[in-house]
Amino acid sequence: MMPRILAFAGSTRRESFNKKLVPIAAKGARDAGAEVTLIDLKDFPLPLFDQDLEAEQGMPENGAKLKRLFIDHDGLLIASPEYNSSVTAVLKNAIDWVSRPAPGEPSLVAFRGKVATLMSASPGALGGLRALVHVRSILGNIGVIVLPDQIAVAKAREAFNPDGSLTDPKQQAAIEGLGNTLAVFLMKLKA
Ligand SMILES: Cc1cc2nc3c(=O)[nH]c(=O)nc-3n(C[C@H](O)[C@H](O)[C@H](O)COP(=O)(O)O)c2cc1C
Repeated sequence: MMPRILAFAGSTRRESFNKKLVPIAAKGARDAGAEVTLIDLKDFPLPLFDQDLEAEQGMPENGAKLKRLFIDHDGLLIASPEYNSSVTAVLKNAIDWVSRPAPGEPSLVAFRGKVATLMSASPGALGGLRALVHVRSILGNIGVIVLPDQIAVAKAREAFNPDGSLTDPKQQAAIEGLGNTLAVFLMKLKA
């Protein structure tokens, strides 16, 4: 069975470094035989989660679309920036909306049993590593198996070529390797 992987960044910035990592990891996953769907959270604008808004208006259309995408995929490739040592609001807000159950639906249906691989990029020296600690914790607590391997790309302003590839071929191969490992893990899980 060909595993299906949803790949996205926790940034909506046009020139996002994290958005540049996503297709690199996606290539590694595709090369290993996975089907990868790349999305941009900018295409799914959502209101800031508010339980009163949810009670009055229900799930926004983009929340429902995003949740359906999560449900329809086995794996998640997430490149998360670090904002003030943690996860970005846009990523956490998307997770919060997607985590909401429809009436009668099992809890956390879009997350439980999924497998995720994390990466990050930042102009700073730690490459966004501190955000990954939090993303790992959040996803783990909602039933996602987060694979141990992760990469934080430091000094991101100097790390990319104009075509979006990484200037360091070893780092390029390592990010592709993350996608590859996720795909292979999912294939074993589905065998
Ligand atoms: C509100 C805010 C907080 C930030 N905090 C951190 C931080 O704690 N650590 C860090 O390495 N970079 C931090 N940055 C810089 C981001 O790493 C940088 O803007 C990066 O380009 C964001 O990721 P992106 O390029 O994928 O959008 C922060 C940026 C913003 C806007």
